[in-house]
Amino acid sequence: MNLSIGAVVLAAGEGKRLKLNAPKPLAPCLDKKLIDFPIRELKKFFSQNKIESKITVVIGHQRDLVRSYVEKNHSEISFAIQEKQLGTADALRSYFNSSIVTKEFHYTLVICADTPVVSADDLTALLTLVKSEDLDGVAASFIESNPKGYGRIVRGKKGFHIIEEKDASDEIRKITEVNSGLYLLKTSYVVEHLKEIDSNNKSGEFYLTDVFKDGFNVKAHCFENAETFLGVNDLRQLETVEHSLRVKIKKQHRENGVRFIDAPHSYIDSEVEIGEGTVIYPNTFITGKTKIGKNVVIEMGAQISDSIVDDEARVLAYSILEGAHLHCKAAAGPFARLRPGADIGPEAKIGNFVEIKKSVLDRGVKVSHLSYVGDAFVGENTNIGCGFITCNYDGANKHITKIGKNCFIGSDSQTVAPVEIGDDCFVASSSTITKHMPDGSFAISRNQQTTKEGIAHRFIKKKEHKKG
Ligand code: UD1
Ligand code: MG
Repeated sequence: MNLSIGAVVLAAGEGKRLKLNAPKPLAPCLDKKLIDFPIRELKKFFSQNKIESKITVVIGHQRDLVRSYVEKNHSEISFAIQEKQLGTADALRSYFNSSIVTKEFHYTLVICADTPVVSADDLTALLTLVKSEDLDGVAASFIESNPKGYGRIVRGKKGFHIIEEKDASDEIRKITEVNSGLYLLKTSYVVEHLKEIDSNNKSGEFYLTDVFKDGFNVKAHCFENAETFLGVNDLRQLETVEHSLRVKIKKQHRENGVRFIDAPHSYIDSEVEIGEGTVIYPNTFITGKTKIGKNVVIEMGAQISDSIVDDEARVLAYSILEGAHLHCKAAAGPFARLRPGADIGPEAKIGNFVEIKKSVLDRGVKVSHLSYVGDAFVGENTNIGCGFITCNYDGANKHITKIGKNCFIGSDSQTVAPVEIGDDCFVASSSTITKHMPDGSFAISRNQQTTKEGIAHRFIKKKEHKKG
């Protein structure tokens, strides 16, 4: 018989201390929301261990918001409603009351929505322990030098139980082994003992922690890495878990062969992919669904979001890529801005103070200095001089500019779209191109120079030197 686990994500609480205009499960965390992390790790854990499963989120406070977010971003999630937030045991009762299927799983795994660092590997470790010792339940614990606010693990000869901060004596408050809020329990065991839990405690809440009692076949497993179980109750803790998640993300990239010059100052979101041999300088933000190839160099100050950077490309200092694609061996920057739809071909070069928007630049194109290219196609090996502008907007509509391959576009030129320049064309410096240019043509559209000798002094104004 296959092992089956019903997973419960407790997410009905309010999270007042975060002072955000959102329910706690929807607090921002890296590029996601807090609740995305336990759901993602649960799914990973179930698929890695081939476990028959179902994930249920217990919702309460601002439940419509939480539900619609989860439904939009995750598939196959069920919901249980806890009408009043009467405590964690009551939340679990709401779960078991939500559907009879919940009682049919061999085990029930309880995780809080506010512990985003817990990984699939930690869940596997819990499962291994429960199975190998045939326990009725296990609570994950850790050592916290400042245990304030946590339930304390009170170990005795016959096992352990958990005492909440509010109910603890001074002696018990000194205990630094604390409850993480992550449990794996035999479903039959928890259903049975949940019935017995009352609210006779200082908070008047139904504590789920009361399912663990001395003398029962249960265990508290103390995990070494306390950071794993950090909960988010205030903004300082949110900062701490985000930091912890980032450290994990960078560790993974490092193991895959990515070199950080100064890792603490690189900020990389959870879905970013980076290839082996890539070097990342400090003060870099790589976010969203960005995909970076092998042997890429990303220099300091670069901000890359939802973009693709292919193998051996270079993003030079202080460049911004947003929904852009930099192909193999292409380079952008320093101070380049590639906006959505910028598609920079292999070996192309975008230099400083150049902005590219919704344009395809073919292999080897060079736009080296101070230019704007928008809504354009530029053919292979065309060289665009300094200070070129595609005038693509007439105040109401955007128009297309097409420039063929092997062209030379002189500095300080502009094209007034819609306009087309063929292959092998030459545009003289300072020209304004408003008419189509056939292949191989030359265009110049500037006034002829007039030079008059010996009269410059009439135009040169000398500064008067004030006396005294
Ligand atoms: C809980 C544990 C404590 C542990 C700590 C770890 C209990 C009684 N205490 O305390 O031992 O050290 O977590 O962080 O369980 N929730 C509901 N419905 C409710 C109450 C809470 O869904 O009625 C949810 C919250 O949204 C949250 C989770 O349960 O995701 C934990 O609740 P919280 O109030 O944060 O419990 P703690 O006081 O932190
Ligand atoms: Mg908490």
